[in-house]
Amino acid sequence: MCGIVGYVGDKKAAPILYDGLKKLEYRGYDSSGIAVNDGFKIDIVKKKGKLDQLEGSLKKNTNGGTVGIGHTRWATHGKPSDLNSHPHCDCSKDFVVVHNGIIENFQKIKKRLKESGHNFKSETDTEVIAHLIEDNYDNNLLKALKATVNELDGSYSLTILSKYEPDKIFVVRKDSPLIIGVGEKENYIASDIPAFLSKTKDFYILEDNELAVVSSGKIEIYNDSLDLIKKELYHVDWDPEMAEKQGYEHYMLKEINEQPDAVRRLMSKRVTPGGINLDELNLDSEFLKNLKQIHIVACGTAYHSGLIGKYLMEELLNIHIEVDVASEYRYRNVLIKEDDLVIVVSQSGETSDTLASLRMAKKHGAKILAFTNSRGSSIAREADHVLLLKAGLEISVASTKAYLNMVVAFYIFSLYLAEKQNKIETKRLNKLSNDLIRLPDLLEQVIKDSESLMKERAKQYVKKQNAFFIGRHTDYTLALEGALKLKEISYIHAEAYPAGELKHGTLALIEKGVPVVALGTRKFIFEKTLSNITEIKARGGDVTAIVYKGAEGIEKVVDHVIYIPQIDDLFGGVLAAIPLQLLAYNTAYLKGCDIDQPRNLAKSVTVE
Ligand code: AGP
Repeated sequence: MCGIVGYVGDKKAAPILYDGLKKLEYRGYDSSGIAVNDGFKIDIVKKKGKLDQLEGSLKKNTNGGTVGIGHTRWATHGKPSDLNSHPHCDCSKDFVVVHNGIIENFQKIKKRLKESGHNFKSETDTEVIAHLIEDNYDNNLLKALKATVNELDGSYSLTILSKYEPDKIFVVRKDSPLIIGVGEKENYIASDIPAFLSKTKDFYILEDNELAVVSSGKIEIYNDSLDLIKKELYHVDWDPEMAEKQGYEHYMLKEINEQPDAVRRLMSKRVTPGGINLDELNLDSEFLKNLKQIHIVACGTAYHSGLIGKYLMEELLNIHIEVDVASEYRYRNVLIKEDDLVIVVSQSGETSDTLASLRMAKKHGAKILAFTNSRGSSIAREADHVLLLKAGLEISVASTKAYLNMVVAFYIFSLYLAEKQNKIETKRLNKLSNDLIRLPDLLEQVIKDSESLMKERAKQYVKKQNAFFIGRHTDYTLALEGALKLKEISYIHAEAYPAGELKHGTLALIEKGVPVVALGTRKFIFEKTLSNITEIKARGGDVTAIVYKGAEGIEKVVDHVIYIPQIDDLFGGVLAAIPLQLLAYNTAYLKGCDIDQPRNLAKSVTVE
């Protein structure tokens, strides 16, 4: 949420900062700004709207300085406007700040600063930070910054330019990510690695309460007590190409098509015809054997993957599984025991509520296993064990390939655990492992098979204001994901229901032409779903069914059918995710929506 960049080196800062922001635009895109310091003055340019709005004025209004900071915003305090855009500065423009996070006590601080004569220009919480630094400054900016953050409640990653030390950038973080990229005679600062992936692959990842002073030839990192510390460099092997669209019109479409390979990467060396190997997790065998309760905690799409995880583990292990939305879990009085396992799921590894839930569960002594796509993220670093999703860089705000890899990760982990707990016969495990290995090829086939039908279906959906998604068991969790995808990128109101639940109220909304997507990938419960579909058809609903090949009687009942290929009943849901994603994508496309950057949203949600 919000993207921060910084550059200090021997080249003109403004274009480098702009390029960095372009790579981070998925983190927030309602306004942006850049400040450049040429040693004499700090020029600030900021604009409401998407980043391209900034480009023109950037050339005209920034100096040729080689030190600068930038920001792309997802508004929290104060509406998107030129004035509320970052950077913000103090009264005399001596200190210029960009901020990611929320300062919870900003009203109180602002009141005090106003009474002592400070002049505020914006409605943001961030501006108090610049004025506080001004107050605390006594010829030592590092100390002034430390004194300032001591007064702040909330979360922040801060990047600061100053008139007094024009060749340096000062940074600090708490509960909001910040990394420092290491170059030759130049260094980079960003809230996420992709910002400068084309410039360097070596990064320092700041931990909470660490501060740093970055100049072109030096990076000094300090702990909370302002002692200089040594940190390990983190090397990434990502290809900068990953951050490009590679001929696709949108990242989302590219990422949908990358799913077969993403699943292959996830399974490589972990799934073999002989079974599942997740010994890399270093989970104690006795602990796993005796495990009686698992909590799964996540947000949004990641939460939906957790719901599939619950159904699967209940089916395979017959133990107690709780799944919770992280923003609820962290404030509930959940019974967490020391011998419980808490699985936190997060693509970004930075989602604020998921991270807070992790910390809460850790305090109760539970073991934490993270499923995440981001190796250096806060969640990866704070969890006891990490299952890396290996989906590759996901840029579109709407998650597709990371979701699918989360789902497959639950399959793999459930089977691994089932073996450890002696709950699965070797023959069945081998059969399921072989089916998992076939999955990427089948995903390719489903992408091909559903592309044109979903384009056709989208022509109808684009005219609608409401849609329903139904399913039973794991299909219900897919229905939830299908509805979220459609809402998120096409702005069509969509609701998901367990198929058996409609008649308890929602059926009242079904009339001629109301679009319903019905999922029937689980044979053992298909007949029940079919009855519910019949109830919808009897009221005139327009039903598109996504069902397993051979689902008896479906064609006579519904308007459109997509068959998913033959695979063990357990895995049907993985394949059915594809047509749901394609329906959302094509509908949003026809509506002319901004698919990769839907309104009001951001990729990495680092605020509560
Ligand atoms: C996915 O399409 C959404 N944009 C959103 O629900 C997302 O899954 C959620 O914010 C959690 O993000 P995370 O996986 O990075 O924790």
